Amino acid sequence: MCEIIAVTSGNGGSGKTMFAANFASVLAMSGCRVLLMDLNAGLRNLDIALGLESQIVYDIADVVRGICPLDKALIRDSRFKALYLLSASQDHAKASLRTADMEQICGVLSARFDFIIIDTPAGLGRDWRAAVSQANIAVVLMTQEYSSIRETESLDINLQKCGIRHRYAIINRVRRHDHQHDCFPDLEEIDEAIRMPIAGGVIFDENIHLSMNSSIPVVCRKDSYIVRNFKRIFLRIYNDLRK
Ligand SMILES: Nc1ncnc2c1ncn2[C@@H]1O[C@H](COP(=O)(O)OP(=O)(O)OP(=O)(O)O)[C@@H](O)[C@H]1O
Ligand SMILES: [Mg+2]
Repeated sequence: MCEIIAVTSGNGGSGKTMFAANFASVLAMSGCRVLLMDLNAGLRNLDIALGLESQIVYDIADVVRGICPLDKALIRDSRFKALYLLSASQDHAKASLRTADMEQICGVLSARFDFIIIDTPAGLGRDWRAAVSQANIAVVLMTQEYSSIRETESLDINLQKCGIRHRYAIINRVRRHDHQHDCFPDLEEIDEAIRMPIAGGVIFDENIHLSMNSSIPVVCRKDSYIVRNFKRIFLRIYNDLRK
Protein backbone atom coordinates (compact mmCIF):
# COMPACT_ATOMS: atom_id res chain seq x y z
CA MET A 1 0.00 0.00 0.00
CA CYS A 2 1.24 3.48 -0.84
CA GLU A 3 1.49 5.98 2.02
CA ILE A 4 0.85 9.56 0.96
CA ILE A 5 2.58 11.96 3.33
CA ALA A 6 1.89 15.69 3.31
CA VAL A 7 4.80 17.66 4.76
CA THR A 8 3.30 20.87 6.00
CA SER A 9 3.56 23.65 8.60
CA GLY A 10 1.66 26.53 10.15
CA ASN A 11 4.31 29.03 9.12
CA GLY A 12 6.69 29.46 6.18
CA GLY A 13 10.39 28.68 6.37
CA SER A 14 9.97 26.01 9.04
CA GLY A 15 11.85 23.29 7.18
CA LYS A 16 9.28 21.50 5.00
CA THR A 17 11.54 21.27 1.98
CA MET A 18 14.53 20.26 4.11
CA PHE A 19 12.49 17.53 5.76
CA ALA A 20 10.85 16.29 2.55
CA ALA A 21 14.19 16.01 0.69
CA ASN A 22 15.99 14.18 3.52
CA PHE A 23 13.13 11.94 4.58
CA ALA A 24 12.55 10.86 0.97
CA SER A 25 16.28 10.20 0.53
CA VAL A 26 16.42 8.01 3.65
CA LEU A 27 13.43 5.98 2.46
CA ALA A 28 14.94 5.62 -1.00
CA MET A 29 18.28 4.50 0.52
CA SER A 30 16.36 1.76 2.33
CA GLY A 31 15.07 0.44 -1.01
CA CYS A 32 11.59 2.02 -1.04
CA ARG A 33 10.08 3.46 -4.22
CA VAL A 34 9.59 7.13 -3.44
CA LEU A 35 8.00 10.02 -5.28
CA LEU A 36 8.63 13.57 -4.09
CA MET A 37 5.97 16.01 -5.19
CA ASP A 38 6.73 19.74 -4.97
CA LEU A 39 3.47 21.69 -4.93
CA ASN A 40 4.93 25.14 -4.22
CA ALA A 41 3.75 26.72 -7.45
CA GLY A 42 5.92 29.67 -8.38
CA LEU A 43 8.23 28.93 -5.43
CA ARG A 44 9.50 25.43 -6.08
CA ASN A 45 12.84 24.48 -4.57
CA LEU A 46 12.96 20.73 -4.00
CA ASP A 47 14.69 20.49 -7.39
CA ILE A 48 17.46 22.74 -6.05
CA ALA A 49 17.79 20.75 -2.81
CA LEU A 50 18.26 17.58 -4.88
CA GLY A 51 20.34 19.16 -7.64
CA LEU A 52 17.81 18.25 -10.34
CA GLU A 53 16.90 21.74 -11.52
CA SER A 54 18.57 21.42 -14.93
CA GLN A 55 16.58 18.27 -15.70
CA ILE A 56 13.11 19.75 -15.36
CA VAL A 57 11.38 20.10 -18.70
CA TYR A 58 7.79 19.39 -17.68
CA ASP A 59 6.00 19.91 -14.39
CA ILE A 60 2.76 18.95 -12.70
CA ALA A 61 0.86 21.85 -14.31
CA ASP A 62 1.86 20.51 -17.76
CA VAL A 63 0.47 17.11 -16.78
CA VAL A 64 -2.82 18.60 -15.55
CA ARG A 65 -3.16 20.71 -18.71
CA GLY A 66 -2.53 17.67 -20.91
CA ILE A 67 0.69 19.09 -22.37
CA CYS A 68 2.68 15.98 -21.47
CA PRO A 69 1.99 12.50 -20.11
CA LEU A 70 2.69 11.96 -16.39
CA ASP A 71 5.78 9.84 -17.05
CA LYS A 72 7.54 12.65 -18.87
CA ALA A 73 7.26 14.91 -15.83
CA LEU A 74 8.82 12.38 -13.42
CA ILE A 75 12.53 13.05 -12.95
CA ARG A 76 14.66 10.26 -11.59
CA ASP A 77 17.38 11.04 -9.07
CA SER A 78 20.11 8.74 -10.33
CA ARG A 79 21.82 8.51 -6.91
CA PHE A 80 19.00 6.23 -5.78
CA LYS A 81 17.35 3.14 -7.22
CA ALA A 82 13.88 4.64 -7.10
CA LEU A 83 13.54 8.27 -6.09
CA TYR A 84 11.59 10.50 -8.46
CA LEU A 85 10.62 14.17 -8.39
CA LEU A 86 7.43 15.66 -9.79
CA SER A 87 8.01 19.38 -9.77
CA ALA A 88 5.68 22.33 -9.31
CA SER A 89 5.40 24.90 -12.05
CA GLN A 90 7.44 28.07 -11.70
CA ASP A 91 4.65 29.94 -13.48
CA HIS A 92 2.11 30.61 -10.76
CA ALA A 93 -0.50 31.76 -13.28
CA LYS A 94 -0.87 28.34 -14.93
CA ALA A 95 -0.34 26.33 -11.80
CA SER A 96 -3.40 26.17 -9.57
CA LEU A 97 -4.26 22.56 -8.79
CA ARG A 98 -7.69 21.20 -7.99
CA THR A 99 -8.44 18.36 -5.61
CA ALA A 100 -9.73 16.36 -8.58
CA ASP A 101 -6.34 16.75 -10.32
CA MET A 102 -4.57 15.47 -7.22
CA GLU A 103 -6.98 12.56 -6.93
CA GLN A 104 -6.27 11.51 -10.48
CA ILE A 105 -2.48 11.92 -10.30
CA CYS A 106 -2.12 10.25 -6.88
CA GLY A 107 -4.46 7.47 -8.00
CA VAL A 108 -2.09 6.55 -10.84
CA LEU A 109 1.13 7.04 -8.85
CA SER A 110 -0.04 5.09 -5.77
CA ALA A 111 0.22 1.89 -7.76
CA ARG A 112 3.85 2.60 -8.61
CA PHE A 113 5.33 3.98 -5.40
CA ASP A 114 5.58 2.93 -1.74
CA PHE A 115 5.63 6.55 -0.59
CA ILE A 116 4.45 9.81 -2.11
CA ILE A 117 5.88 12.73 -0.14
CA ILE A 118 4.26 16.08 -0.81
CA ASP A 119 6.04 19.37 -0.06
CA THR A 120 2.95 21.51 0.50
CA PRO A 121 2.64 25.24 -0.10
CA ALA A 122 2.39 27.65 2.86
CA GLY A 123 -1.00 28.99 3.93
CA LEU A 124 -4.32 27.21 4.22
CA GLY A 125 -5.91 28.29 0.93
CA ARG A 126 -7.18 26.30 -2.05
CA ASP A 127 -3.71 25.20 -3.18
CA TRP A 128 -2.89 23.90 0.29
CA ARG A 129 -6.20 22.02 0.54
CA ALA A 130 -5.62 20.39 -2.85
CA ALA A 131 -2.05 19.52 -1.80
CA VAL A 132 -3.13 17.66 1.35
CA SER A 133 -6.36 16.24 -0.07
CA GLN A 134 -5.02 12.77 -0.92
CA ALA A 135 -2.68 12.35 2.05
CA ASN A 136 -3.32 9.76 4.73
CA ILE A 137 -0.43 11.05 6.87
CA ALA A 138 0.62 14.61 7.72
CA VAL A 139 4.02 15.55 9.07
CA VAL A 140 3.93 19.02 10.60
CA LEU A 141 7.18 20.98 10.91
CA MET A 142 7.31 23.32 13.87
CA THR A 143 9.88 25.12 16.00
CA GLN A 144 10.40 25.35 19.73
CA GLU A 145 8.48 28.62 20.08
CA TYR A 146 5.10 29.58 21.55
CA SER A 147 4.01 31.13 18.25
CA SER A 148 4.75 27.86 16.49
CA ILE A 149 2.63 25.91 18.99
CA ARG A 150 -0.31 28.18 18.22
CA GLU A 151 0.19 27.91 14.45
CA THR A 152 0.51 24.15 14.71
CA GLU A 153 -2.72 23.87 16.70
CA SER A 154 -4.61 25.88 14.11
CA LEU A 155 -3.08 23.85 11.27
CA ASP A 156 -4.04 20.67 13.08
CA ILE A 157 -7.71 21.69 13.10
CA ASN A 158 -7.53 22.13 9.33
CA LEU A 159 -5.79 18.80 8.84
CA GLN A 160 -8.52 17.12 10.86
CA LYS A 161 -11.17 18.85 8.72
CA CYS A 162 -9.40 17.41 5.68
CA GLY A 163 -9.83 13.95 7.22
CA ILE A 164 -6.14 13.22 7.87
CA ARG A 165 -6.11 10.81 10.80
CA HIS A 166 -2.38 10.28 11.21
CA ARG A 167 -0.64 13.52 12.11
CA TYR A 168 2.88 13.88 13.52
CA ALA A 169 4.91 16.87 14.64
CA ILE A 170 8.62 17.36 13.98
CA ILE A 171 10.43 20.00 15.98
CA ASN A 172 12.97 21.58 13.71
CA ARG A 173 15.98 23.81 14.36
CA VAL A 174 16.34 22.60 17.92
CA ARG A 175 19.16 24.52 19.59
CA ARG A 176 20.68 23.02 22.70
CA HIS A 177 21.12 26.33 24.52
CA ASP A 178 17.43 27.25 24.02
CA HIS A 179 16.64 24.75 26.77
CA GLN A 180 18.45 27.00 29.24
CA HIS A 181 16.05 29.87 28.61
CA ASP A 182 12.64 29.93 30.24
CA CYS A 183 11.20 31.91 27.35
CA PHE A 184 11.12 28.84 25.07
CA PRO A 185 8.65 26.00 25.61
CA ASP A 186 10.30 22.72 26.54
CA LEU A 187 9.39 19.44 24.85
CA GLU A 188 6.97 18.44 27.61
CA GLU A 189 5.09 21.69 27.23
CA ILE A 190 4.88 21.27 23.47
CA ASP A 191 3.76 17.69 23.84
CA GLU A 192 0.97 18.73 26.19
CA ALA A 193 -0.15 21.63 24.01
CA ILE A 194 -0.45 19.91 20.63
CA ARG A 195 -2.81 17.09 19.84
CA MET A 196 -0.47 14.98 17.77
CA PRO A 197 2.53 12.84 18.71
CA ILE A 198 5.99 14.31 18.30
CA ALA A 199 7.79 11.99 15.89
CA GLY A 200 11.19 13.58 16.52
CA GLY A 201 13.36 16.62 16.30
CA VAL A 202 16.04 17.95 13.98
CA ILE A 203 18.72 20.10 15.54
CA PHE A 204 19.87 23.36 14.05
CA ASP A 205 22.96 22.38 12.11
CA GLU A 206 24.88 24.53 9.67
CA ASN A 207 25.58 21.37 7.59
CA ILE A 208 21.85 20.98 6.98
CA HIS A 209 21.64 24.56 5.77
CA LEU A 210 24.69 24.16 3.53
CA SER A 211 23.39 20.93 2.05
CA MET A 212 20.15 22.62 0.98
CA ASN A 213 22.24 24.77 -1.32
CA SER A 214 24.73 22.18 -2.48
CA SER A 215 22.37 19.76 -4.29
CA ILE A 216 23.15 16.89 -1.93
CA PRO A 217 20.71 16.02 0.85
CA VAL A 218 22.60 15.99 4.15
CA VAL A 219 21.54 12.38 4.83
CA CYS A 220 23.64 11.31 1.82
CA ARG A 221 26.76 11.98 3.90
CA LYS A 222 28.06 8.64 5.05
CA ASP A 223 27.64 7.80 8.74
CA SER A 224 26.08 11.13 9.55
CA TYR A 225 24.11 11.27 12.81
CA ILE A 226 21.38 12.89 10.73
CA VAL A 227 20.70 9.65 8.80
CA ARG A 228 20.07 7.85 12.08
CA ASN A 229 17.91 10.73 13.22
CA PHE A 230 15.70 10.53 10.11
CA LYS A 231 15.54 6.73 10.34
CA ARG A 232 14.32 7.01 13.92
CA ILE A 233 11.65 9.47 12.85
CA PHE A 234 10.50 7.04 10.17
CA LEU A 235 10.40 4.13 12.62
CA ARG A 236 8.35 6.09 15.16
CA ILE A 237 5.78 6.94 12.49
CA TYR A 238 5.83 3.41 11.06
CA ASN A 239 5.35 1.78 14.49
CA ASP A 240 2.62 4.21 15.44
CA LEU A 241 0.72 3.52 12.19
CA ARG A 242 0.77 -0.19 12.94
CA LYS A 243 -0.57 0.12 16.48
N1 LIG B 1 17.60 21.93 11.04
C1 LIG B 1 18.08 22.94 10.30
N2 LIG B 1 19.33 23.42 10.53
C2 LIG B 1 19.83 24.45 9.81
N3 LIG B 1 19.16 25.06 8.80
C3 LIG B 1 17.91 24.61 8.52
C4 LIG B 1 17.31 23.53 9.22
N4 LIG B 1 16.07 23.30 8.70
C5 LIG B 1 15.92 24.19 7.70
N5 LIG B 1 17.02 24.99 7.59
C6 LIG B 1 17.20 26.12 6.66
O1 LIG B 1 16.10 26.99 6.88
C7 LIG B 1 15.64 27.53 5.64
C8 LIG B 1 14.15 27.19 5.46
O2 LIG B 1 14.03 25.79 5.31
P1 LIG B 1 13.06 25.18 4.22
O3 LIG B 1 13.27 25.83 2.89
O4 LIG B 1 13.15 23.71 4.28
O5 LIG B 1 11.66 25.68 4.84
P2 LIG B 1 10.21 25.60 4.17
O6 LIG B 1 9.26 25.32 5.26
O7 LIG B 1 10.24 24.65 3.03
O8 LIG B 1 10.04 27.10 3.63
P3 LIG B 1 8.87 27.64 2.66
O9 LIG B 1 7.65 27.84 3.52
O10 LIG B 1 9.44 28.95 2.16
O11 LIG B 1 8.66 26.64 1.58
C9 LIG B 1 16.55 26.96 4.56
O12 LIG B 1 17.55 27.90 4.28
C10 LIG B 1 17.15 25.70 5.21
O13 LIG B 1 18.44 25.43 4.71
MG1 LIG C 1 9.75 24.97 1.00
